[in-house]
Amino acid sequence: MNLDLNDKKVFISGSTKGIGFETAKLFLDEGSTVIINGRTKEGVESALKKLNNKNVSGISADFLDNAQIDELIKKIPDDIDIIVNNVGIFRGKDFYSEKIKDWQDHFEVNLMSGVKLSKHFLPNMLKKNWGRILFISSECSSLVPGDLLSYSVSKASVSVFSSGLAKLTKGSNVTVNTIVPGSTLSEGSKVFLEQTAKRENKTIDQVEKQFFEDVRDSSLISRFLSVTEVANTILYFSSPIASGTNGASIRVDGGSMGSII
Ligand SMILES: NC(=O)c1ccc[n+]([C@@H]2O[C@H](COP(=O)([O-])OP(=O)(O)OC[C@H]3O[C@@H](n4cnc5c(N)ncnc54)[C@H](OP(=O)(O)O)[C@@H]3O)[C@@H](O)[C@H]2O)c1
Repeated sequence: MNLDLNDKKVFISGSTKGIGFETAKLFLDEGSTVIINGRTKEGVESALKKLNNKNVSGISADFLDNAQIDELIKKIPDDIDIIVNNVGIFRGKDFYSEKIKDWQDHFEVNLMSGVKLSKHFLPNMLKKNWGRILFISSECSSLVPGDLLSYSVSKASVSVFSSGLAKLTKGSNVTVNTIVPGSTLSEGSKVFLEQTAKRENKTIDQVEKQFFEDVRDSSLISRFLSVTEVANTILYFSSPIASGTNGASIRVDGGSMGSII
């Protein structure tokens, strides 16, 4: 299948690691020009070194800092073709331990990052009559674990925002879609598995098995998704050949959410 992405300019928020990094790698394999992002210059430099490709550059900016976001927006070319709103944080505190600042930070990074980028870049995409905006939500937006409330609510708001934003593309060749991953073995999840294994004196395999028995028992694949499985889905829905899908939530959740549509 030819994804026809070789002349596309792509920006991916939060892409020095995990799903975002893998997505950058796959876009580069397709010949796209990619801009990656993370909070620090060092993080971005290190990711650029790993990617080792002449078509990739990086912009450090923290999505918790408005001044840095303004600078970031100035550095992204106005004619960017594809924006992947991937950046996301989760702090995993229970409701009573969470501070209001935790709620605000989850909304700033997980939702407002995409709101700010869309406000700036969607009009240009509509003007040139081509573009893709992708949001990365989470299975937690509908499974809603009790210890991830602010994260889950912020992710649900991403899906709502994305669905409404897509309405503004009516009659054009611009699409706005949400990818909804299940539990994925990114850097963050690896640290969680390692720490739990150490704490509970278990192997990583035992912790993973227990997670899918006790916490995510609705998963049909009963294992973590790989970052490549999620990134492949992001690439397809970013591509010109996905022109028939707009305003959609696309699950790559290993069946955990269990809904028919
Ligand atoms: N992993 C999962 O199980 C899972 C499941 C469902 C949905 N998701 C969603 O998928 C997306 C990617 O998750 P992931 O697990 O791949 O993440 P990850 O491995 O934790 O990586 C997060 C990325 O975001 C960057 N980042 C974090 N805070 C930032 C900020 N304030 N400003 C700018 N960049 C920031 C990090 O870069 P630096 O550290 O260099 O700053 C890093 O590149 C997120 O939206 C997440 O909610 C993940």
